[in-house]
Amino acid sequence: MLDGYRPTGNEEPTLTAKLDGRSVIVTGAGQTPGETMGNGRAATLAFAREGAKVLAVDRRLSSAIETAQMVRAEGGICEAFEADITNEAACEAIADECVRRFGRIDVLHNNVGIGAGDAGPTSLTEDNWHRIMDVNLTGPWLVCKHVLPIMREQQSGTIINISSVAAIASTPMLAYKVSKAGLNALTEALAGSAARYGIRVNAIMPGLMDTPMAIEGFSAATGRSRDDVRAARAGQVPLQRRQGTAWDVANAAVFLASDDSGYITGVLLPVDGGIHLKVG
Ligand SMILES: NC(=O)c1ccc[n+]([C@@H]2O[C@H](COP(=O)([O-])OP(=O)(O)OC[C@H]3O[C@@H](n4cnc5c(N)ncnc54)[C@H](O)[C@@H]3O)[C@@H](O)[C@H]2O)c1
Repeated sequence: MLDGYRPTGNEEPTLTAKLDGRSVIVTGAGQTPGETMGNGRAATLAFAREGAKVLAVDRRLSSAIETAQMVRAEGGICEAFEADITNEAACEAIADECVRRFGRIDVLHNNVGIGAGDAGPTSLTEDNWHRIMDVNLTGPWLVCKHVLPIMREQQSGTIINISSVAAIASTPMLAYKVSKAGLNALTEALAGSAARYGIRVNAIMPGLMDTPMAIEGFSAATGRSRDDVRAARAGQVPLQRRQGTAWDVANAAVFLASDDSGYITGVLLPVDGGIHLKVG
């Protein structure tokens, strides 16, 4: 028998308090209603489980409140806050609220993203192009714009942008792909300019995840059953032909938020079961 790793048989994750006392903003901390958990909600729970105080931001306050209640039910610290990140004044208010409640901003988890209304280059409407760009690219930049001065003053901080493997893989969703490619470029630009202040900026590119936005969204858009959509997505994934879950993204986010990744900045990390291997 080889020495080293052996499965413990424990089903509960070990709490390591990797983010003990850190104050964290999660945007899009609510979720599209559906059967499974969304990426922002899972990240909020995962950060809080590691000891962070979390400001759960969403344009749908009721959904952010639901997330905050889930955190509190586990004994964690979380406050819900209503904001639409396409509005600059609201982004300034997010940063102010985090400082007012928790005294500082250690982590910004820029998770908001939409895809509804997207299409190919000849059928996409100009309105939907602008709406998707505003939410997926301009919005995350605006939140950074108002969080960065606080992190600079602290001489520390970590920003995680939730991009998508669609940024580098082929997809029929034009505006979504271009917006996420822009978010990758924003990540690299900010990582370069913020490094001297001790601020790290990274992106996660999730692949085909079993979240309500994806499953309920595609099912509604195509008229196919959820199970059909799930099976078709799973079949495209190299790693065991299975979709990921919001927890796969959340676990990577905890790593990028914590000191375990303290020498990592400007990285675009696929969390996609190997879909990026098929590029090209
Ligand atoms: N699910 C996937 O397969 C997948 C794959 C790649 C990337 N992603 C990315 O993961 C992120 C989260 O996706 P999800 O599937 O959990 O979606 P979700 O719809 O469950 O969560 C997004 C949340 O953002 C909120 N929101 C939308 N626009 C907002 C705005 N302007 N201001 C504030 N809040 C706003 C929504 O109300 C919702 O609660 C997105 O950035 C998405 O692009 C998802």
